[in-house]
Amino acid sequence: MKRIGGDQMQVRQLTGQTGTEFSDIDARDISAADFAVIKEAWLSRCVVVIRDQHLSEAELCAFSRRFGELEPPPASEARRREEEAAEMWIISNVIENGEPIGALGSGEAEWHTDMSYIAAPPSAPVLYGREVVTDGGRTWFANMYAALADMPPDLRAAITGREANHDSTYTSAGDLRKGMAEVQDVSRAPGARHPIVRRHPVTGRDALYLGRRTNGWIVGMDVAESDLLLDRLWDWCTQDRYAYAHSWTPDDLLIWDNRATIHRREAFDAAARRVMWRCQVKDSAAIRDSETIRERATIRERATPLPS
Ligand SMILES: [Fe+2]
Repeated sequence: MKRIGGDQMQVRQLTGQTGTEFSDIDARDISAADFAVIKEAWLSRCVVVIRDQHLSEAELCAFSRRFGELEPPPASEARRREEEAAEMWIISNVIENGEPIGALGSGEAEWHTDMSYIAAPPSAPVLYGREVVTDGGRTWFANMYAALADMPPDLRAAITGREANHDSTYTSAGDLRKGMAEVQDVSRAPGARHPIVRRHPVTGRDALYLGRRTNGWIVGMDVAESDLLLDRLWDWCTQDRYAYAHSWTPDDLLIWDNRATIHRREAFDAAARRVMWRCQVKDSAAIRDSETIRERATIRERATPLPS
């Protein structure tokens, strides 16, 4: 544990490559200098844990906004809230008056990147543990810089220059999204395509970039061949040596870099209460890139002579 500067903030590295824990700091009142240290840890070590926070909904949103503009909640989770907390939603298994108060239940959430099924997924998911469970329910993170850095050369060669489709049909908890039909052929699944090796828009480092295994497809490959390669990739990057497993204590505040990690949640006892508050930050760099790609496509379309 190390003190930073002249103030009280304590810093501890959680594993060799992944995760930094901060304590003795109040997320409602972080100086610019301390916030710069936290942001640097988020970028270089992918996961930040801030212990023992006491935040209102609006204060969680205000803290999250320091990382950038917030995404609105998914339509299925949008709830009536005070205006300053409109972007927050709840992840929970708790049922009140016959209705779940939040998303994702108590089952396992498979390894995934948040919302990689859209062109510009969020940069920073923020999760605040209001009521946590100690038996199961851990959140695992895998460092995708590290998984790429020591990948066997033949595996690296097999994915170089390739894109994958990130299916949007199911949630990470395995539920079919509203209005979606089950996928019969993964090469026709809806979603977004991203390079499998992606240069991080801020750090400039290359990272492996995978969405989730379910319905994944490597664009242009025979489906059986793609399945074999994806299985090998997922086996590689989910090894314990790239992972940090977070055991929640009440009032933990977590932020991770959604561009350089994948994460999963362990199942837990459905009768236990787990209530997490959640925000996520837009990836302004990826939005700029995807707009550039769209602009280029439009320019190409305009430049294509009309059939006569
Ligand atoms: Fe997630």
